[in-house]
Amino acid sequence: MSPEVKVLRATAAETSVVANMMQLYIHDFSEFWFDQPQGDVEANGLYALPDNLQSYWDDPDLVALLVKLTGTIVGFALINVHAHSGRPVDWNMGEFFILRKYRRAGIGTAAAQAIFADFPGRWETAVARRNVGAQIFWQRLAEDYGAFEGLDLRTTEWNGPIFRFTVAPAKGPSS
Ligand SMILES: CC(C)(COP(=O)(O)OP(=O)(O)OC[C@H]1O[C@@H](n2cnc3c(N)ncnc32)[C@H](O)[C@@H]1OP(=O)(O)O)[C@@H](O)C(=O)NCCC(=O)NCCS
Repeated sequence: MSPEVKVLRATAAETSVVANMMQLYIHDFSEFWFDQPQGDVEANGLYALPDNLQSYWDDPDLVALLVKLTGTIVGFALINVHAHSGRPVDWNMGEFFILRKYRRAGIGTAAAQAIFADFPGRWETAVARRNVGAQIFWQRLAEDYGAFEGLDLRTTEWNGPIFRFTVAPAKGPSS
């Protein structure tokens, strides 16, 4: 990982930091929802946030993370244990976001690799069908962990590719 890219747990006091960036994240996704009812702001000009956002600080199975580049916040991730495939997982990448200014500079890759290293086990990343850039991004990452399984769902649960791969725990220092 680039030494400047760090992934840290978002503290309860940083709930609003994640919530604020979630606005930008939803705005990015709204581009894919041009033909769907979702993706409109409310009367206050903000998007409604997911009902379960607060759970990321209340439920030990849910983890909110901030991505920082030399101390500056450049993104966030929400990880959980919900498998869109219905198959066993240890971790699912619920949401992952790098601010536009910092994209295509390897920061997303460095941040994701740091997250996988900190949370080893069976992973799943589900990508919306229209999010073609993210599909390339996650497939490249999944390939780094050896044989990955690529699924393609068209169900009410998910519409798009799902990458499943296993991250081995880091080896401790040899004695
Ligand atoms: C997807 C996202 C996290 C990528 O972050 P990033 O920091 O730009 O990613 P990286 O710079 O590490 O990209 C690594 C590689 O992934 C691929 N990639 C990343 N974004 C891509 C895009 N928009 N189009 C095509 N390929 C892309 C490229 O192969 C890239 O390597 P390259 O720049 O040398 O060509 C970022 O674009 C983002 O936050 N998007 C909005 C939210 C989102 O879609 N999140 C994922 C939800 S599943």
